Amino acid sequence: MRAVIFDLDGVVVDTAKYHYLAWRKLAAELGFVFDEANNERLKGVSRMTSLEIVLETGKIQNLSMEEKIALADRKNGYYLDMVSTIDESEILPGIPAFLERLRAEGYKIALGSASKSGGMILKKLGLMPFFDAVVDGNLVERAKPDPQVFTKAAEMLGVPCKDCVVIEDSAAGIAAAAAGGMKSVGIGSSEILGNADIVVPDTAELPGLDLPK
Ligand code: G6P
Ligand code: MG
Repeated sequence: MRAVIFDLDGVVVDTAKYHYLAWRKLAAELGFVFDEANNERLKGVSRMTSLEIVLETGKIQNLSMEEKIALADRKNGYYLDMVSTIDESEILPGIPAFLERLRAEGYKIALGSASKSGGMILKKLGLMPFFDAVVDGNLVERAKPDPQVFTKAAEMLGVPCKDCVVIEDSAAGIAAAAAGGMKSVGIGSSEILGNADIVVPDTAELPGLDLPK
């Protein structure tokens, strides 16, 4: 039995752009510009780690834990507003066909997302019936590049890690897959995702792709 474990943001759906816009809005309110080059470092990492990176780029120091939690909550509020109307039209190209193919070929399918909104988004997209296991930020303590989100998914599926392929758009996620002893397919640029077993420029390639063994 083999399995495919999907990251969510930037792989199944284009929510990566909403995370970015929400952080950018928070940064603007704090008086600095948060640009796309810096945003690459936020992909795949937890909300609080993202906040630390955003504050570092704005050279904001010495905040209390309460202040940091309030800022992270504020960003999450903006994000939740932005995704409140999300629907299947925002599923990325090739994903439905790829899910159908995996199901027809007998693969187990799981979600492995750092986002605490991961399960909720999957439901809104109507994709829940494809997934045999859903692991999101509510079920893990350690964020990518720690492999916990993927190893937990493998455990829930009952598939050995070496028989799992992770689909990821972030460097942290590709590192997490390798740390968990899993194969990986990177979605995006090979400059950023060079450690993946295979890199494709976008999700439209997935339905016809030979998965790494
Ligand atoms: C994913 C995204 C990150 C996001 C993180 C936490 O890994 O790639 O950009 O910050 O999840 O998401 P959350 O919805 O819990 O704030
Ligand atoms: Mg992602």
